[in-house]
Amino acid sequence: MALWSGRFTQDVSEFTQRFGASLPVDKALYAQDIAGSQAHARMLAARGVISDADAAAIVQGLDDIKVSIEAGEFVFDINDEDIHMSIERELIARIGEAGARLHTGRSRNDQVATDTRLFAKQRCADLMAANVALRQALIAQAEAHPDVILPGYTHLQHAQPVLFSHHMLAYVWMLTRDFERLSAAQHAADASPLGSAALAGTTYPLDRQMTAEALGFSRVIPNSLDAVSDRDFLLDLSYACSVSCMHLSRLCEELVLWSSSEFNFIELSDAFSTGSSIMPQKKNPDFAELIRGKTGRVVGDLMALLVTMKGLPLAYNKDLQEDKEGAIDAARTLEDCLMCATGMIETMDIKPDNMLAQAQKGHLAATDVADYLAKKGMPFRRAHEVVGHLVLLCEQRGCNLNDLTLDDFRAESDLFEADITAALDMESIVAARTTEGGTGHQAVSVQLARAKEALAADEANL
Ligand code: ARG
Repeated sequence: MALWSGRFTQDVSEFTQRFGASLPVDKALYAQDIAGSQAHARMLAARGVISDADAAAIVQGLDDIKVSIEAGEFVFDINDEDIHMSIERELIARIGEAGARLHTGRSRNDQVATDTRLFAKQRCADLMAANVALRQALIAQAEAHPDVILPGYTHLQHAQPVLFSHHMLAYVWMLTRDFERLSAAQHAADASPLGSAALAGTTYPLDRQMTAEALGFSRVIPNSLDAVSDRDFLLDLSYACSVSCMHLSRLCEELVLWSSSEFNFIELSDAFSTGSSIMPQKKNPDFAELIRGKTGRVVGDLMALLVTMKGLPLAYNKDLQEDKEGAIDAARTLEDCLMCATGMIETMDIKPDNMLAQAQKGHLAATDVADYLAKKGMPFRRAHEVVGHLVLLCEQRGCNLNDLTLDDFRAESDLFEADITAALDMESIVAARTTEGGTGHQAVSVQLARAKEALAADEANL
């Protein structure tokens, strides 16, 4: 019979018991559940609701149960709907009457909200640490190849040459914002619902500040109805996971492209590639593809919870039991993806010659030739048109802008002089982009210093 069986004369069927249970998912919250119960018992004793002896027996009994769970000796029984009932039933079996006093002034509704918030806070911390590790790997690649140039793209067409380090740092900034989002999700979770009981508070003189402090929450949720039914903090976590995974997916999409024979910009290490069961020559970027693929599931976890929440009246509804599976999955998936991406970035080899060779193709100097004319007084729109003609000429001849003679240039405008060739050299084109945040060496080294500063600050907050 269930712990609440007093008013019932019939058990649910085995099927509905299974259908209604959350134990397979929420047993992951055993440590949080035990910590929450211990804090509650100590507070009940401090307020004279239960005796000190009972509180001590409860705290000890729960410590022992934790040891059993961690030793793999604890028998989880699906007849207990969830981890809360599982642990409480075992406590009563082990210590008797004192254990049966634990649930005074408490409901599973504030218990599950408390456990889930503690869990979410911890997972945010884990993800923030994994985020920092990937940023370190990207920064290390940027620093290892300060002079490498590759084509920058818009519409996946060659646009302007950029430094490889600049390209790596673009992802570092995405991840820097992901860290902020995880930190915001951690703050959202960092509020205690404990002491709200089922929905309306209780008749016992509970000290909510005391349990909040004991559990490391920075504040107490001010409204008991909101406390037991709010899952915004899980949405915040799922959103932070979704955005971060989307960033990893974009990075991985580039790794997949770059390791194709068409690009041939990088070689992923064997440890992050797989072969084919039929084609002996294949080396596939499976893990990059998998990160891209898993992103779909993480975004799905966010959507699922949003839809679950949208029609719920106050306060607790059983629908809320569907909150944990997706959030746990999203956090675990992102953590795995961050770790996998870190290993992939740390071990990839880059091919600077192939990158530069591609940057020579596709008239990447065109904007700079137009700028050359504009700086000599020609309105930029007109200069754009002149260079458009030169590019057309190159296309007709099947050559590049730097294959044209000075006469070819001067046929379009007599503002061209012998120094035009200097404007066509990839190194000079890159170096000329001196604006803050631009790809010139100087600007990139300033940017790199900033990215490292932000990383150090985040690391210090882990
Ligand atoms: N298993 C439940 C959940 O995960 C715990 C709270 C149940 N409360 C209740 N009144 N049925 O949401």
